[in-house]
Parts: sequence; C-alpha cells; structure tokens
Amino acid sequence: MYDDPIVRAIGSRHEIFDENDPLTQDFLSCISDLLEHKRVQKLKKYHQHCNTSRLQHCISVSYYSYLIARKIGADPRKAARAGLLHDLFLYDWRTKKTPQVHAFFHPKAAAENAKRVTELSDCEIDAILKHMWPLCWGLPAYRESVAVTLADKYAASIEVVYQWSMVCLRKLHLVRG
Ligand SMILES: [Fe+2]
Ligand SMILES: [Fe+2]
Repeated sequence: MYDDPIVRAIGSRHEIFDENDPLTQDFLSCISDLLEHKRVQKLKKYHQHCNTSRLQHCISVSYYSYLIARKIGADPRKAARAGLLHDLFLYDWRTKKTPQVHAFFHPKAAAENAKRVTELSDCEIDAILKHMWPLCWGLPAYRESVAVTLADKYAASIEVVYQWSMVCLRKLHLVRG
C-alpha cells in the first residue's frame, strides 16, 4: 500500500499491512490518513536511535501506544495518532542547534508540526508534549499520554538493544552484514 519498507513495529511479529490480521487492520485504520501525509513520510529521512529511521520509531511508538491504550482503558485511536506524531520534528537532533536542549525542545516542535498535519484534541497535544516525561513540566494528564510515554521508552529501548545485539553478533561472525 505504501511505498515504504517498514512493515511492523520493531519487536512485534504482527505486520501492520496484513489484511488478514484484525488487530493491525484496526490499528492501521487509526493512522492511515496520517501515514500518507508527506510531512510524516519525511521522517524516513532522519535517523532516530542508532540506524532506526524516525518514521520506523514513530510507527513503533504508535503501535505500542495503541496496544497499551487498549489495556489501560484509554482511547486507542487517539493514543495511536499521538504516538505517530510524537517525534514529528524535521531536523537531525545530533547536529541541529535548538533554542533549548533537544529533549525539552522537540516535543513542542513536534506538536506545532502535528497541528499542521491534522486537527488535534487536547489529549493528543498533551501526549505529544509530555512524551519525554519526566523530562517535561507536569505529569501526563490523560491515559493516552501515559500510553505514549511508556510506548516511547519501550520502543527506544528495543531499538537500541536490537541494534547493539546485531553489532555484537556481527563481531562474533554469527550473522552476516
Ligand atoms: Fe521524542
Ligand atoms: Fe520518540
């Protein structure tokens, strides 16, 4: 459907475009309009953690936010959408000079960019602004915000662990590449 090699959240066995998987079909229905947006697609040009593209990271966070929201009684659609948009900043955070430390600045940049992509509820804005909690002012105010901040930490952790594992396996000649 999309001209993109990303097929699943990192760490998940479920393919997001599998038409026979009701879970991922429902997930995809929550975010498909956003995923097609050219500003969101630009995220694939940027690295996030190690070699993971920012688009892959955002899809992973969106998917895990959706799953967590279902478990904790939050709105899965809002959590998935906020998760996809939570890092919608279009610069290389390793080299770009920002007005504040990146960890504090980028949630505000992402929220402003997200408003240019779609209409956002207060809950979705809070989830984007607080996704770096506790590196922000105030607690996440909605269950959806809790889902996104947990999903972000989970996705970032498995991205780093996965990539370092592959480095070690290559050094031991246990995998090629
Ligand atoms: Fe972030
Ligand atoms: Fe993130």
